[in-house]
Amino acid sequence: MDVNQTIDTFTSFFREHDHQQIPSSSLVPPPGDPVLFTTSGMHPLTRYIEGRPHPLGRRLTGLQRCLRTTDLDETGDDSHLTVFQMLGSWSLGDYDGPQSLRWGHELLTGGLGVNPGLLYATVFGGDGQVGPDVGSQRTWTELGVPVELTSGEENWWSNGPTGPCGPDSEIFVWTGQQPPSGSPMTDDRWVELWNHVTMRYRRLDDGSLIPLDQPSVDTGMGLERLLMVLQGRRSVFDTDIFRPWRSELPGLWQLDERTLRITSDHLRAGIAIIGDGVLPSSTGRGYVLRRLLRRVLTLLWRDDSSRSVGDLPTVLIEHTLDRFGQGTEVGLVRGVLGGEQRRFGELLVRGRKVLGQLKSPGRLTETDLRYLHETHGLPPELVTELLTGQQVTIDR
Ligand code: ALA
Repeated sequence: MDVNQTIDTFTSFFREHDHQQIPSSSLVPPPGDPVLFTTSGMHPLTRYIEGRPHPLGRRLTGLQRCLRTTDLDETGDDSHLTVFQMLGSWSLGDYDGPQSLRWGHELLTGGLGVNPGLLYATVFGGDGQVGPDVGSQRTWTELGVPVELTSGEENWWSNGPTGPCGPDSEIFVWTGQQPPSGSPMTDDRWVELWNHVTMRYRRLDDGSLIPLDQPSVDTGMGLERLLMVLQGRRSVFDTDIFRPWRSELPGLWQLDERTLRITSDHLRAGIAIIGDGVLPSSTGRGYVLRRLLRRVLTLLWRDDSSRSVGDLPTVLIEHTLDRFGQGTEVGLVRGVLGGEQRRFGELLVRGRKVLGQLKSPGRLTETDLRYLHETHGLPPELVTELLTGQQVTIDR
């Protein structure tokens, strides 16, 4: 099943169960939202989960582009991406959590063709404030899926420190070659696929929980990870979504597998962020974009300083903008990438010169780092990178 068939199977299933399809919102939340980027499918729906009526009704489905910087250090492994798409279904004060799980199971094992014997579920085991989620536990048992109650925050979901939140049930699928063994808590061949959250509470500033007037259900399943499972691939980078990257990049730059993955991920994320109107800068969203692009450039220039993101094939920019449903001009994206490359190149030249002039360039103190940052605009992490390969000690 290719990417478009998969999306269609998911959204058609929910449309057949009276859900209305909503378009993806931008990666940039509306003004006033304290969060830098849209991090989940429910994020744009927060006020409806809190009780405001949605113009399209109480049952919704869709595909939302999301960005998570919490996973940046894990990029390059088999399953984490900076920008990804999340398939979702929502009951805004309509049906309950167990109904959502039953439909989830029907869709996974029916239309999406996952072997029911390869599933495993975890549910909230309760804490001092909220009791165990016995409704979900019972539903999984009725469906014949092994289920485990977890402790602590493991099966509790919220989009931020305050706002709607509640117990969740995570569905895992076995990806090992041998028959399933162990549990998701003990064996990482169980891959988390789909999360069903019962939004029953609102967390207030003082940390306390109050019940929402009408509980909602919020589900989210990462599209790329689902494709990895359905297409039997080892990593998200081996699914059809990344096919153009896999075929174009190796001809352009000789990169090892991990660098190829990080480069594809960060450039794709950079294009999507630019596609939603963000420009590189030294704060906020623009800084996230800048960090992603500079990390790519650092990786590319490590082996060959003549490499240029200006050589990025148009097809990759177009493919990314299309994937995320963005109408931004390819030329604009190219201009932003090129501009950031030029600025970073200039900063590196200046940085090397300034570092060379320091009294003892091989030994830097916190004061040196502050001076380099404040007077020459050289961030500490860049200084450390610039010095890679030299005999340098940073006295902290
Ligand atoms: N909002 C839930 C998540 O992102 C479904 O996992």
